[in-house]
Amino acid sequence: MNLNFVDVIVKAGEILLEGLHRDVKANYKGKSDIVTEIDLKSEAFLKEELLKIFNGYKIVAEETENKLVDASRVIYIDPLDGTTNYYHKFPFFAISVAVYNDGSPIEAAVYNPYYKELFVASKGEGAFLNGKRLCVSNKKALEESLIVTGFTSGVIQKEGKHLVEILKKISESSHGIRRIGSAALDLCYVAMGVFEGFYEKGLKPWDVAAGKLIVTEAGGKISDIDGEKHEVDSGFIVATNGLIHEELLSILNE
Ligand code: IPD
Ligand code: CA
Ligand code: CA
Repeated sequence: MNLNFVDVIVKAGEILLEGLHRDVKANYKGKSDIVTEIDLKSEAFLKEELLKIFNGYKIVAEETENKLVDASRVIYIDPLDGTTNYYHKFPFFAISVAVYNDGSPIEAAVYNPYYKELFVASKGEGAFLNGKRLCVSNKKALEESLIVTGFTSGVIQKEGKHLVEILKKISESSHGIRRIGSAALDLCYVAMGVFEGFYEKGLKPWDVAAGKLIVTEAGGKISDIDGEKHEVDSGFIVATNGLIHEELLSILNE
């Protein structure tokens, strides 16, 4: 059977669901950074199936091929974004895959199989959740916004104090701040208009490659911490509805 791009992502969702209701084997990659047998199983499936569709593409995938490649055609795979949530049975996790040509995303899909939420975007054709077009929020000011963030383990160890100061400032200047544990879904929820903004330092290309296109195709804005063009390896991502972008950047840069 020949699967298409979206079928492959949805099928990988079955792998995630299969492991959700039992104890899965996990190993530590770092002090508080785990990888489960399901991350590996999902990644192996995605790599094999996607290469059948995207002939000649290079793969950058979190668990087994995580070196950046200098190639014009690349598929970025996060086989399970939100592993910690998954391991603890908190159902906010997803598969995140993006196809890039010459450094720009052309296709993206993020899928939370627990809630059956499939986010897709194609360059120039909009972003969709289960077939319904997505549009970012129209809130104009940070003071009426809800912001989401995340903390990669390395960054929290090195810069925890500064992160808390930023959390305080944003909490005081907005409706509040959330940390839910899947960068790919955080970005999709900005695209949906649930959150007005998302920021995180230390993310890897596979965390953001798909969500970036989904946000911009929903009318949002993406930049790095300096307000400059965000590349998949920029390390700091700021994603908003566009309207609160400068205000959020100015707090992040205080
Ligand atoms: C993690 C999640 C989390 C973010 C971490 C990421 P993983 O991805 O996206 O929200 O804060 O920094 O590493 O490890 O679950 O694929
Ligand atoms: Ca991830
Ligand atoms: Ca992952």
